[in-house]
Amino acid sequence: MAIETKKLYLDFQRFKDQEVEINGWVRNNRSQKEFGFIDLNDGTAFETVQVVYESTMENFKEISKFRVGSAITVKGKVVLTPEMKQPFEVKATQINLDGDSLDDYPIQPKRHTREFLRENAHLRMRTNLFNAVFRVRSVVSYAIHKFFQERGFVYLHAPIITASDAEGAGEMFQVTTLAGKKPEENYSNDFFGKKANLSVSGQLQAEAYALAYKNVYTFGPTFRAENSNTTRHASEFWMIEPEIAFADINDDMKLAEDMVKFIIRDLFETCESELNFFDQFVEKGLINKLKKVLDSKFAVVTHKEAINILIKNEKDFETKPVHGQDLATEHEKFLTKHFDGPVFVIDWPKEIKAFYMRLNDDQKTVAAMDLLVPGSGELIGGSQREERLDYLEKRISELGIDDKDLWWYKDLRKYGGCKHAGFGMGLERMIMYVTGIDNIRDVLPFPRTPKKCDF
Ligand code: 4AD
Ligand code: MG
Repeated sequence: MAIETKKLYLDFQRFKDQEVEINGWVRNNRSQKEFGFIDLNDGTAFETVQVVYESTMENFKEISKFRVGSAITVKGKVVLTPEMKQPFEVKATQINLDGDSLDDYPIQPKRHTREFLRENAHLRMRTNLFNAVFRVRSVVSYAIHKFFQERGFVYLHAPIITASDAEGAGEMFQVTTLAGKKPEENYSNDFFGKKANLSVSGQLQAEAYALAYKNVYTFGPTFRAENSNTTRHASEFWMIEPEIAFADINDDMKLAEDMVKFIIRDLFETCESELNFFDQFVEKGLINKLKKVLDSKFAVVTHKEAINILIKNEKDFETKPVHGQDLATEHEKFLTKHFDGPVFVIDWPKEIKAFYMRLNDDQKTVAAMDLLVPGSGELIGGSQREERLDYLEKRISELGIDDKDLWWYKDLRKYGGCKHAGFGMGLERMIMYVTGIDNIRDVLPFPRTPKKCDF
């Protein structure tokens, strides 16, 4: 039975001089006359294992020609090497080829551009960088579940196909079986008998569940047909949306801050090698940045104060900061620099926010919060929800939203409605933040963006 190299790395002393079997892929093979070295990675650990083979082995000639990318099985003895970079190596007694690779294997041991690797998304996980990124993505996902489950939150699988536009922004992919047929204004012939789309958010359903379980969260794929080709937007991404009942905007911010810190703390415990790699090769100072987050309290500013800060600093912004208007990416960047870390922007002008956000007493702003972080900009968007039916109906009609599919959402205000709040975090934005990777396409296994749907 083959052993996972992660186990070897965690406990190499115990395996001293023992025979082990390892399966993996050749990252590099350097042969000389009398011996050779294979860098072997089996995917269970970030580190590769150095395998040493000698000319006394009967298939030495074959082994020395094993190509990069091949799948092999190695049997050999664990030899501790305290004087070298890696703590041990494996002195091979037998090496067999499980699956050959070709000379044109794209992932040769040299530097590749991220663009090139993106075109090879089916193989890029075999590089150090992407191997680390997608392990971190997995670990962070698990940490998020741990965070909420440990606090008794119920995990809700929100539907992926919906008839409502949860954000009221109209950026939806339509789901239809009438494709290619005459465009229909009347959807009664369509599969669901009405216009349906891929969900832009599970929030509305999460609100329903929060009003039965108190604390819930969703974690699933989310779809947006925004035609914005930026480094931070994808057409398909994963969102985590907790929803908490009997809670206000301050409880919401506390939850968000605790969650972000929990994830970072968990990463320090589970992905030390990966973080060190990112710190060295992707974002210098990443580890310090993240440590500082753990030790700090997140700043809070109102949208009005934020705009004032931007105006006062008189930097030449491409988009002029204006009261009542949204923040541009450059503004977000400036603010996170200004506060030297994560910052909540609260009390947004109601005109630029979604219909479900609770109107503040000033009648002008809503109890919304965006968490901005250095590098990824908006990491989290959330709010206290409008629990007053008359206010909600007024907002819906002011915004001209067709509410015929929102009847059940309004019901929630009639039957035991209470103050409640929630937020959404894009998983990819979080992965970008903790790895230093600056393009969302490089933290999604197989990214979907405008004009791109390969693999
Ligand atoms: O700010 P958003 O649009 O908020 C909502 O969807 C609310 N329903 C959340 C809630 O209160 N339950 O999106 C939330 C987060 C953003 O802060 C961002 O991290 C991420 O989702 N996000 C995207 N990530 C990648 N690509 C996109 N196109 C994204 N749009 C939003
Ligand atoms: Mg938002």
